[in-house]
Amino acid sequence: MCGIVGYVGFREAYPVLIKGLHRLEYRGYDSAGVALVNEKGDLNVYKHRGKVAELERFAESKDIAGHIGIAHTRWATHGEPNDANAHPHYSESENLALIHNGIIENYGLLKEALIQNGFRFRSNTDTEVLVQLIEYVMQTNRCSLLEAVQTALREVIGAYAIAVVEKGNRDRIIAARKSSPLVVGLGNDEYFLASDATPIVEYTDKVVYLNDEEIAVIERGKPLRVVGLNNAEAKFDIKKLSMSISQLEKGGYPHFMLKEIYEQPRTIIDCIRGRVNIDGTHVVLSGVLDNKERFLHAGRIIIVACGTSWHAGLIGEHLIEDLCRIPVEVEYASEFRYRNPVIRPDDVVIAVSQSGETADTLAAVELAKRQGAFIFGICNVVGSSIARATDSGAYIHVGPEIGVASTKAFTGQVTVMTMLALTLAKEKGTIEEERYLEILGHLQKLPSLIGEVLELDEQIKDLSKIFTYCHNFIYLGRGYNYPAALEGALKLKEISYIHAEGYPAAEMKHGPIALIDNEMPVIVIAPSDSIYEKTVSNIQEIKARGGKVIAVISAGDHTVRNIADYCIEVPTVTECLSPILASVPLQLLAYHIAVNKGRDVDQPRNLAKSVTVE
Ligand code: M6R
Repeated sequence: MCGIVGYVGFREAYPVLIKGLHRLEYRGYDSAGVALVNEKGDLNVYKHRGKVAELERFAESKDIAGHIGIAHTRWATHGEPNDANAHPHYSESENLALIHNGIIENYGLLKEALIQNGFRFRSNTDTEVLVQLIEYVMQTNRCSLLEAVQTALREVIGAYAIAVVEKGNRDRIIAARKSSPLVVGLGNDEYFLASDATPIVEYTDKVVYLNDEEIAVIERGKPLRVVGLNNAEAKFDIKKLSMSISQLEKGGYPHFMLKEIYEQPRTIIDCIRGRVNIDGTHVVLSGVLDNKERFLHAGRIIIVACGTSWHAGLIGEHLIEDLCRIPVEVEYASEFRYRNPVIRPDDVVIAVSQSGETADTLAAVELAKRQGAFIFGICNVVGSSIARATDSGAYIHVGPEIGVASTKAFTGQVTVMTMLALTLAKEKGTIEEERYLEILGHLQKLPSLIGEVLELDEQIKDLSKIFTYCHNFIYLGRGYNYPAALEGALKLKEISYIHAEGYPAAEMKHGPIALIDNEMPVIVIAPSDSIYEKTVSNIQEIKARGGKVIAVISAGDHTVRNIADYCIEVPTVTECLSPILASVPLQLLAYHIAVNKGRDVDQPRNLAKSVTVE
């Protein structure tokens, strides 16, 4: 939700900022803007509704000189996406410009007080209150910008990552964070600032992740300073980035989403690497083993997540209950955090999040932590807020996921869940050796099996043409594949804007079956598993009512092939891994339908990759 970039150094700031905004555009693309201080000390703000390209066109004929600047790409929360609500926001005197990611909850009261003190507002945003408040404090207390930022932030309730520049100051950016991410990049005689490391990685691999309620004083020619809201110096660690530029580019694919779907054979290898022994007979998730006692004595495991990560959590529930015999509950983080849940000290909470920045998941983690539970994180982004807030965890190591629709992160999350369940089941003695070896063996074959599924791309593309103009879809699955049905439906709706619902196949007859007619495509995930016959009966029920069935089946299944209208045949794999193989053709189907409809696949409307507001 909103991307922040900043630069101070010897380069022209504008190109660095624009490139950074393009890298962060996945976080929001309702408007974009930039503030630059030129050599004369003028503070110039340019901003425009729409994507970064619109800003570039708008700024073409403007004075974009300067070696210091801040820039923003917005996902609208307060105020519609228009030019006035775009960031940066000027203060009343236009001496300050500020960008913000987050939500200021008490902005209404602060705004009223500022209006009474003669401040005029040009936007409907909560953000503008911050920059006006900082200026008000500077004027009334006759203090420095840093002191004013500290005082203002003590008044604020909510979440923020901010950066401020000042007219006449060509050297300094003040930045601060609370519950929204912010990273400072340390170059030679230059500094970078961003919401995540992607705009920084091509200039330096040295970064500092700010913690909540920390302020970075980023000043040309001086060492980085990090202070608290009370001005106490804060210690910081310089971390080394392991990301590469090629991971951030499309590499010849028309969209990041397609690239990321195709990366899955490799990302599963990366995810498993170093965790399975050389003979392929033993798997260890060190984050689990290092905290063995907590896991072995867990009365219950609670999985908290949102969206696709929640679907991965549902598969985790099946895996852990099935293999480890520990009761599991899977919760939407947004519900969990507000419903006064019972959390016991012997609970283990697993937080699943690709970005590691999802506000609701982070809040659920903090709640469970306060109540004494042990927290384990399954994240992709190294050094992210959730990764840092948890007691232990396992990264999924699938590389940066840029497409807003999650694909490789989902299969990575399920892969880590599988390794977690196997590690724990072995320690608990709840799995027979034969089953353990079978699942582990199939896990290692997944990359080549996914490769086989990707060879079906042309077939799926042809299929997509038949269904591009349908208005509704139903996705069905049972057992391990019910979450895969939910995930398939989510993929379709978020990038094609077609209404799609996922259901457990047997639930159909309790209501949704009324929707079936010969216009309704029903995607049924029907691998040859322990409940195969039951799923076949569900397919018969749909066919009896004229529905069009597209079935995802195991290789060689002639029974469903004879009943369904269309079949996508995927390799046979052990039951608990079947949702991984089933989800890949559904990712491709959603992708092709969205492309046929001319949708913006990587940046679908109203969405953002990282949901840092609740
Ligand atoms: O970064 P997270 O995994 O915490 O994100 C959770 C959801 O916002 C995310 O999975 C969302 O549902 C995706 N757009 C799904 O493709």
